[in-house]
Amino acid sequence: MEKLTTIQKITPLDYPVLDNIKNRWSPRNFAETPITEEKVKVLLEAGRWAPSASNIQPWRVIWGIKGTEMYDRIFDCLDEFNQSWAVNSQMLWINAFKKTMEKNEKENFHALHDLGLFMGNIVQQAHSMNIGVHQMAGVQFKKAQKDFHFPEDYHVTTAVAFGYFGGDPEDLPDDLKKQELEKMRERKPQQEFAFNGNFKDKK
Ligand SMILES: Cc1cc2nc3c(=O)[nH]c(=O)nc-3n(C[C@H](O)[C@H](O)[C@H](O)COP(=O)(O)O)c2cc1C
Repeated sequence: MEKLTTIQKITPLDYPVLDNIKNRWSPRNFAETPITEEKVKVLLEAGRWAPSASNIQPWRVIWGIKGTEMYDRIFDCLDEFNQSWAVNSQMLWINAFKKTMEKNEKENFHALHDLGLFMGNIVQQAHSMNIGVHQMAGVQFKKAQKDFHFPEDYHVTTAVAFGYFGGDPEDLPDDLKKQELEKMRERKPQQEFAFNGNFKDKK
């Protein structure tokens, strides 16, 4: 059988949005094409220009390209499940945010929100470059905090796997292969999360 190189997902839109938003999805297998340092800088630049509360820019990233010690050190901080597929990625990140304001050490209540905006820019930029991004909550946070010397004022949140689209889903364990090949993407309908009136819990 011919090898599948690109998986076409179906995104049932209720309203039209940018193709880049519509077509983005999170792969668990990637092409073997390396991600160059220059491309890493392009991705970070996209994140750099994200908005943030008071322009504090609380996001912090540790990055490593496959074949380097940094990549291996990040890989060692993933949980077992994520290691089972992220081994296919060409680059790994650990994400963290600074918990306090630069000026007065008060809590920056919006820091996690702003790290999310940063990653929103990254996933869109990456998709436009044919690079797939898969974010991961399954991280050994304490180990990452210690291994990468984050002070207490920083909160390690997530890891991220990157690689060009085009990996062969056959290389994945059976359950993940099934998810990778699942065509239909799903989201809650808008009326479950947006209200032109008071908040309503789902009945
Ligand atoms: C903050 C965050 C944490 C996630 N953690 C994991 C994870 O640990 N392992 C995993 O396989 N996928 C993880 N995902 C991927 C989500 O399951 C995925 O984004 C979601 O199912 C929607 O699919 P899509 O990105 O392909 O649209 C995470 C995504 C986000 C944004």
